Amino acid sequence: MNVLLIGNGGREHALAKSMSESAALTKLYIAPGNPGTALHGTNVDIKASDFANLEAFALQNEVALIVVGPEAPLVDGIADHFKKHPHICVVGPSALGAQLEGSKAFAKKFMLHRGIPTAKYFECDATNLHQGIDFLHSLKPPYVLKADGLAAGKGVLILDNVVEAEHELTSMLNGKFGHASATVVIEEFLSGIEFSVFAITDGKSYLLMPEAKDYKRIGEGDTGLNTGGMGAVSPVPFVDKTMMDKVIERIVKPTIDGFVHDEIDYKGFVFFGLINVNGEPYVIEYNCRMGDPETEVVVPRIKSDLLPIFVSLKDQTLHQHTLEFKDEVATTVMLVSGGYPGDYPTGHSIEIGELHRDSFAYHAGTKMEGNVLVTSGGRVMAITSIGSDIQSALSKSYSSIEKIKFGGMNFRKDIGRDLL
Ligand code: AMP
Ligand code: GLY
Repeated sequence: MNVLLIGNGGREHALAKSMSESAALTKLYIAPGNPGTALHGTNVDIKASDFANLEAFALQNEVALIVVGPEAPLVDGIADHFKKHPHICVVGPSALGAQLEGSKAFAKKFMLHRGIPTAKYFECDATNLHQGIDFLHSLKPPYVLKADGLAAGKGVLILDNVVEAEHELTSMLNGKFGHASATVVIEEFLSGIEFSVFAITDGKSYLLMPEAKDYKRIGEGDTGLNTGGMGAVSPVPFVDKTMMDKVIERIVKPTIDGFVHDEIDYKGFVFFGLINVNGEPYVIEYNCRMGDPETEVVVPRIKSDLLPIFVSLKDQTLHQHTLEFKDEVATTVMLVSGGYPGDYPTGHSIEIGELHRDSFAYHAGTKMEGNVLVTSGGRVMAITSIGSDIQSALSKSYSSIEKIKFGGMNFRKDIGRDLL
């Protein structure tokens, strides 16, 4: 079978590598891909947003399966666009399903209707600002304000002071995050440790993938600005059977049942961003795709061939499949450009020596300039290692990092340390 993978990050490199090892694969294309994905298939210079050219390419090249990495094309309806070609299976939900990530207010209403545990909230826009301010005053600090729409991971503000929160609420409604913050979800703050659970679903049944914990802040000890993710670990030691059973019964099953009940066409990944509040799981957010860098620790732990599982989504025969995981631990450490998540230079040449045999470098923000591999983004590479425990996987990732150099290279030295 010919496969088209859409995206160009570390997540897509991990998916490309895994799918390239499938017995069911004939040709793998990645649009637009990166120098890492080019090691496992053929990069095609078409943007994820260019549905017309993706469609023409898929038809010309007899693509039977399209795997969508990032959220933006899903929210913009790529799965709906391909509905007119029923022989093509798209891994990724319809635009309506993608609203779980594309609209925080949609996700909150969905959870409320299904009784899924999540923080108390109020949906505020220009028409009910006074009630929004009353709701803010009913909460204890800190105050959580979320732009309803996609805001490149920057749309969540957590504020200690109610006056400041009122001010930010007004400025969000006045366009601080453009149209994305024309509606703001005001939330109760939940205190606990975050972790992520991933399911693949055909809209009726689901399979769970390994869970993961990511490290979002730029600075050691979880300080400084939020990033797309600076590292990840899988499995997560505190997510024991008791916790996982609660997650499945209270969150995963009601979510999938919600798709059936609300007639939401959802064939793809569900990323449950969760928080453990005194042993009880709550949903912080849904994403309609896999995480990055979580994919770089989740996929290397999957033993099963992903392609037959992906293909089963189209005919809703996922229940005939199983997913097997390795017992080993995977850790990843993200190498980022100096200055990220603020402004950073690009175009630094990257030198890669011999990594530990259990390590692998997933490319994210890299590109080829002639024959030279150079940096082209904030998050440059994710260095994943497999080990018998967190400590051994981490020490392999960190010893491999010593073999990699680029100007301004930065990374967190404390990934996974809180779990040891
Ligand atoms: P989100 O984009 O919804 O995942 O929010 C970004 C980050 O803000 C999350 O990963 C959490 O660290 C934090 N956050 C969001 N909502 C809450 C909440 N209700 N309570 C505490 N922290 C939150
Ligand atoms: N690492 C967080 C995300 O992919 O949203």
